[in-house]
Amino acid sequence: MNPFDEEKRNPSEPDTDKEARIDRRTWLTGAVSLLGTTAAGLLTPALLPAEEGGSVRPTHVPGRGPSPYGVRAQGETVQRLPTATHSLTPHHALHGIITPSALHFERHHNGVPSINPDRHRLLIHGLVDQPRTFSMSDLVRFPSVTRTLFIECSGNSGHEWKGPTGKTVQETHGLMSTSEWTGVPLSTVLAEAGIKPDAAWVLAEGSDAAAMTRSLPLAEVLNDALLCYAQNGEALRPEQGYPLRLVIPGWEGNTCIKWIRRLKLGTASFMTREETSRYTDLMPDGTARQFTFVMEAKSVITSPSGGQRIEPGFVEIRGLAWSGRGKIVTAEVSTDGGRSWHTAQLQEPVLSQCHTRFRFGWRWNGDETIIQSRCTHETGYIQPTRAALVAARGVHSFYHYHAIHIWKIDRRGTVTNGQV
Ligand code: CO
Repeated sequence: MNPFDEEKRNPSEPDTDKEARIDRRTWLTGAVSLLGTTAAGLLTPALLPAEEGGSVRPTHVPGRGPSPYGVRAQGETVQRLPTATHSLTPHHALHGIITPSALHFERHHNGVPSINPDRHRLLIHGLVDQPRTFSMSDLVRFPSVTRTLFIECSGNSGHEWKGPTGKTVQETHGLMSTSEWTGVPLSTVLAEAGIKPDAAWVLAEGSDAAAMTRSLPLAEVLNDALLCYAQNGEALRPEQGYPLRLVIPGWEGNTCIKWIRRLKLGTASFMTREETSRYTDLMPDGTARQFTFVMEAKSVITSPSGGQRIEPGFVEIRGLAWSGRGKIVTAEVSTDGGRSWHTAQLQEPVLSQCHTRFRFGWRWNGDETIIQSRCTHETGYIQPTRAALVAARGVHSFYHYHAIHIWKIDRRGTVTNGQV
């Protein structure tokens, strides 16, 4: 017998439709203060919102039954912002550090391939003792590792090199997300083929229509790179590389080859298009930096952020800080245009090469102001100002923009991108 069948409405519960009926508009505009009633210790039916439409009361009719695969609540509409080649994570509307898989940013170079996992193979060849191919069931049998890691496209915030471009944090910082990734260490799989002593680089290739390829220095990826088949506890999403993707902790997203089908070991880098014409950093002297893999310390206030509006009084400033080099040790917030800085509270756990949530309680007095965050990682490196970053790198780069991000607040409480 289903134990819920016995659960009946408490007969002492007040039952006047007059009390219970709060129209949809009142609910959506937030005029009902649930916070106030829970603080008083009693959430009375009079203050509970009616079901959308106002005619069906959830305490009077049985609810929907169990379903094989969940979907979010009706009316929850937060979504990625898609373009032809990428989609952006809505950080202004998210909490904690895990990005829901359905909202993880996408970047693909010739669409999302449709791959049959039963037929998918990973080939390992080049400077190995014995070339090998592995099926997905072979790979899942190896000892597994799970890590919570951010992936950030090196083009995240890239348009900000030209000045304040993105209107919202989704536009300025939406090419990054955090997931719990599960897979097999790359070192385990390469050891099965046997690495020849003169192998120094590995080419990773995807089986998308761009055949995305990157060269990776072998010694570094043997440390901690993972061949992942799971994201947030289930199989990868197709747009995240189903059935198999490389994840290299802290490295630019483009190196985390999706739909991976081939690893070739060699003595030198393979000089693919994606590391010669693309994913290089043009410096002020006209030379270009190549193989800039690590994403440096960076932070951003996700709320309040561009496009949002605040009211005078208490405002919790919320944001994310991260570094490809390790753990965040400090996140600081300024609410006066950078004159003074306050240490923000870091949400545990603080993980290496992972988003760290920070919070700072603020009382807005209604004056025009500028808010911003900066972070420090465990080597003592502090996220630079825009002026310091431009002084070092010039303005001809597109990738690896990680300067302090500024939000302006006007007297009406409207928040806008305020890079100066
Ligand atoms: Co780079």
